[in-house]
Amino acid sequence: MNTSVDPLHDQSDVVSEPACDRRSDPGSGEETILVRGNGPLSGTVFVPGAKNSVLKLMATTILCDGPHELSNVPDIVDVAIMGDLLAAIGVEMSRPSPGELVLLNTGDIVPVAPYELVERIRASINVLGPLLARCGEVKLSMPGGDDFGARPIDMHIAGLEAMGAEFEFSDGYLQARADRLHGADITLDFPSVGATENLMTAAVLADGVTTIDNCAREPEISDLCEFLVAMGARIDGIGTATLRIEGVDQRDLRPVSHRTCPDRIQAATYLAACSVAGGELDIVGARGDQMTMLLDRFGEMGLDITVTDSGIHVVAEGRARSIDIATLPYPGIATDYKPLVITMLAVADGVGIVTENLYPGRFRYVEELQRLGADVRTTGHHAVVRGVPRLTGTRVKAHDIRAGAAMVVAGLAAEGETRISGVHHIDRGYDDLVGRLRAVGASIERV
Ligand code: EPU
Repeated sequence: MNTSVDPLHDQSDVVSEPACDRRSDPGSGEETILVRGNGPLSGTVFVPGAKNSVLKLMATTILCDGPHELSNVPDIVDVAIMGDLLAAIGVEMSRPSPGELVLLNTGDIVPVAPYELVERIRASINVLGPLLARCGEVKLSMPGGDDFGARPIDMHIAGLEAMGAEFEFSDGYLQARADRLHGADITLDFPSVGATENLMTAAVLADGVTTIDNCAREPEISDLCEFLVAMGARIDGIGTATLRIEGVDQRDLRPVSHRTCPDRIQAATYLAACSVAGGELDIVGARGDQMTMLLDRFGEMGLDITVTDSGIHVVAEGRARSIDIATLPYPGIATDYKPLVITMLAVADGVGIVTENLYPGRFRYVEELQRLGADVRTTGHHAVVRGVPRLTGTRVKAHDIRAGAAMVVAGLAAEGETRISGVHHIDRGYDDLVGRLRAVGASIERV
């Protein structure tokens, strides 16, 4: 490998803030979200498909020619960016109706992922496995994504090398080659979501059997497995820590119609909103069975939660109780829930300790919560949250998708007005968060 820049510890996924992303100035013309804490929520809120599933399903259509149909697709900016990236590669995206996508793989695939698109979203790394498997070569700029520290891809590279790929890194681009990938026994150092996805999509067209041990088990991984099986892939161990993939011939694959699994992080956002504002919500479309550990912990905090056939019913009365919580790979508490949990603890009764085990740098939003009057101290990968009865509205900033949603939830818990800037981060992963909260009684608008 050419190591003029070390791709294993590359920082290029740390996206610099655009000039329009300075802290909100009401005179700047930048769109903001205005929230006024005004009491209980009530009604029904629908949770669409998961960002972190649909983007991977889209990338995986590279493997097989023809029209693939996806439903339950969230209307978010990252889907549009992935669509542009795939168009540059040779897969054309269209939207026949709301919530539906058709991805037409023209068969004319160009294995180059341009910098301007790749640097905007982390999930662009998911074209690596399919392009390498399909074309035997790939040229990919280093991926972007949220700004919470280094997000290396060493496990993606080591796994693909074990399958016969050779990598080179120069001029900000990763280049890989393999005449035909072969099966391999791979054990991941850590159950990385992205590495599991790239290795299993590559293994679908490899010669022989690949096993991926200590793989990620997130519901979005199972969704991708089911999509691949419908395409003609041979995969055993779906939902377990060991996946076994038997390679098939590319001509044996067929286009797929698939419904995207629901977004558990969006579902958790409405649970958190209900917790801090009080009230009663039906969160329709959510899969409570994919959120068991979180729902148990929220139950300990005092939320009355029932998993129903259509989703999750929640009742929140009075102030929540503090708990200690630690993030872990699935089935543990997802790191993406954490900004929401810290916001709930900020107004809960007691002291809670939150431990981050995936991204030590993922506490940037804490200073924004402090501006609202939260008592949160961070040290290393821990946060100590002393609950206060109420926050006080002011101007705050969304630093990334989940932190932005947490600011909206914090606004519901605050007296007066909270004005959130950096709304473009929220739009990357949330499908009409403002409209959905307003429909259940929140005083919230985009201005
Ligand atoms: N890691 C390595 N080497 C690798 C890959 C990962 O050291 O080769 C480390 C990472 O630095 C991190 C840990 O392993 O400390 C977990 O990373 P993982 O690969 O599992 O995360 P990811 O695939 O980059 C996805 C989601 C994130 C979510 C994480 C963890 C997408 C597009 N992103 O990222 O979602 O936080 O899994 O669950 O699926 C979000 O949606 O807002 C978001 C950030």
